[in-house]
Amino acid sequence: MTLLAGQVALITGAGGGIGRGIALRFAREGAAVALHCRTGAEAAHALAEEIGDRAVVLPGADLTVEDECRRLVAQAAEWGGGRLDALVNNAGVQPVRQLPGMPAADWRAVVDTNLTSVFACTQAAAEVMREQGGGTVTHIASVEARMPVEGHAHYSASKAAVVMHARAAALEYGPHGIRVNTVSPGLIDRAGLEEAWPEGVRRWREAVAVGRLGRPEDVGDACVFLASRLASWVTGHDLVVDGGVSARPTW
Ligand SMILES: NC(=O)c1ccc[n+]([C@@H]2O[C@H](COP(=O)([O-])OP(=O)(O)OC[C@H]3O[C@@H](n4cnc5c(N)ncnc54)[C@H](OP(=O)(O)O)[C@@H]3O)[C@@H](O)[C@H]2O)c1
Repeated sequence: MTLLAGQVALITGAGGGIGRGIALRFAREGAAVALHCRTGAEAAHALAEEIGDRAVVLPGADLTVEDECRRLVAQAAEWGGGRLDALVNNAGVQPVRQLPGMPAADWRAVVDTNLTSVFACTQAAAEVMREQGGGTVTHIASVEARMPVEGHAHYSASKAAVVMHARAAALEYGPHGIRVNTVSPGLIDRAGLEEAWPEGVRRWREAVAVGRLGRPEDVGDACVFLASRLASWVTGHDLVVDGGVSARPTW
């Protein structure tokens, strides 16, 4: 399949687990992929090598800094010969901290990373996309945008805001041919997850309808769909990818 043939895509946080899954799926569908990483250069370079000559690593940008978001988008567009067809805002942090006693700095760090970076990268990318007549932006939110978890109030609030940012951006950028959506994953498996959080993994396995944890490529598949012509009339949408967990009644 070549659903994204000819597209130039920028994936933030591509040195991480889900970013890798998204990048591999985009590349398999024919996109040229710019792989952003901040500190995870080794993983990003290994990924670029696996993909081949249609990948480049753009290291270093701290996306809590607006200028660095703008610089990253400019670098990706330059590499793409002036084009940027798809942006996936995947970079994010998920620290655990209870609300009582949480310093405002901790709150801000999560909001700056998970939300304000999405605003800044989208704004910069939309300028390029507008010039070229269109493009797509997909934010990686979370099922926690709808279902808060103790110790994750800052995270849940940031992800709920990301979903709403996409809906609002869909309205403002739609007339310029730019579609903006979110993908909300449930628990995505990674090396060491079961050892680090056995109780949580057990509960997820009990709750999930399709009988397994998520994989990075499940998120990648959803992002490919939203960036492709198959979704040309889909914007402002939140695509939940959670194996059916959020469909299960809680009573
Ligand atoms: N894992 C899950 O089960 C799950 C479920 C729902 C949603 N999500 C969301 O999916 C996304 C990816 O998560 P993941 O599990 O793949 O996490 P991960 O492996 O920790 O990757 C997160 C990436 O974000 C980047 N990042 C963090 N802070 C940054 C900053 N200030 N500036 C630039 N980049 C920054 C990191 O870059 P460097 O390492 O290069 O510094 C890293 O590559 C996140 O938005 C997360 O909230 C994850």
